[in-house]
Amino acid sequence: MTAHVRLNDHIGALDTPEGLPAVLAVLGETCAAISRTVAGGALVGALGASGQVNVQDEEQKKLDVITNDMLREALAACAPVFGVASEELDTVEPTGRTGDHGYLVLFDPLDGSSNIDINAPVGTIFSVLPASSGQIDEAAFLQPGRNQVAAGYALYGAQSMLVLTTGQGVAAFTLDVDGQWLRTGEDLAIPADTREFAINMSNQRHWAEPVRRYIEGCLEGKDGPRGKDFNMRWVAAMVADVHRILMRGGVFLYPWDAREPDRAGKLRLMYEGNPMALLIEQAGGKATTDGKQPILDVRPTELHQRIAVALGSAKEIDAFAEA
Ligand code: F6P
Repeated sequence: MTAHVRLNDHIGALDTPEGLPAVLAVLGETCAAISRTVAGGALVGALGASGQVNVQDEEQKKLDVITNDMLREALAACAPVFGVASEELDTVEPTGRTGDHGYLVLFDPLDGSSNIDINAPVGTIFSVLPASSGQIDEAAFLQPGRNQVAAGYALYGAQSMLVLTTGQGVAAFTLDVDGQWLRTGEDLAIPADTREFAINMSNQRHWAEPVRRYIEGCLEGKDGPRGKDFNMRWVAAMVADVHRILMRGGVFLYPWDAREPDRAGKLRLMYEGNPMALLIEQAGGKATTDGKQPILDVRPTELHQRIAVALGSAKEIDAFAEA
């Protein structure tokens, strides 16, 4: 059998800035620990609601709280981490360290949490930004996604997988029975063409016209304007939907809709849109707000900012832009 490269050896062989390997190692270890907790389910008291709501007024599941604390604590103990921010925290948490070669880590500790109680896939998404040498406050985190020095996710599905980029392509790792992330994919590349889309169809009546037109064109299949039949998938966990696109192509859309007209979309820019956009671009796909504007170029104005998302196979995102 081929010997698989371990996550830390993979990171060690990359050209990374000082301190970053230690941050990525802690993220890898903590995601492996989260995978064990997720797998324990009811046996470890991990299912159900926590009885609390987060800053975005969403009911927190027990696992949201547990996994958030696991990441916060592990990252607070990692010397090059100068601050953390999370979907589940009201504001940023500086670690008290400042200076050179420091990093800010943003995360969604348990993406797709409505899937927890039905034993469907969930994940952890993370984004790593360079810390400036000044004060670590919310403003220090408000950097465009292009500044990310690393991004990735762990998917807790049929297998637990970790997918990582440091801006030098995308690699995938599978968790073995001993709790080690072993490399099982390198230089992931998203096919430019696809016949598969992912969108929550139940929101159709709330979409803007261009989104309706695009999806209608797909649904008309080979007799319609697109001239080909499409398949649809929706896992309701962005991690799993993006993973499918990295594995076999497709497009994922979570557009603005009229349910909350003042919000750009449902998903969060800093710890969902940006890290996924870096992974998708690094694998040769496109990650935009509307088919045209790259998510990575959006200048954030607030930590929990929402963003419309249209990402995946490059030619299909172009078709969406033209709809
Ligand atoms: O974090 C938000 C999220 O759970 C994503 O992971 C997922 O893509 C989306 O919401 C699911 O939304 P909906 O509830 O509309 O299916």
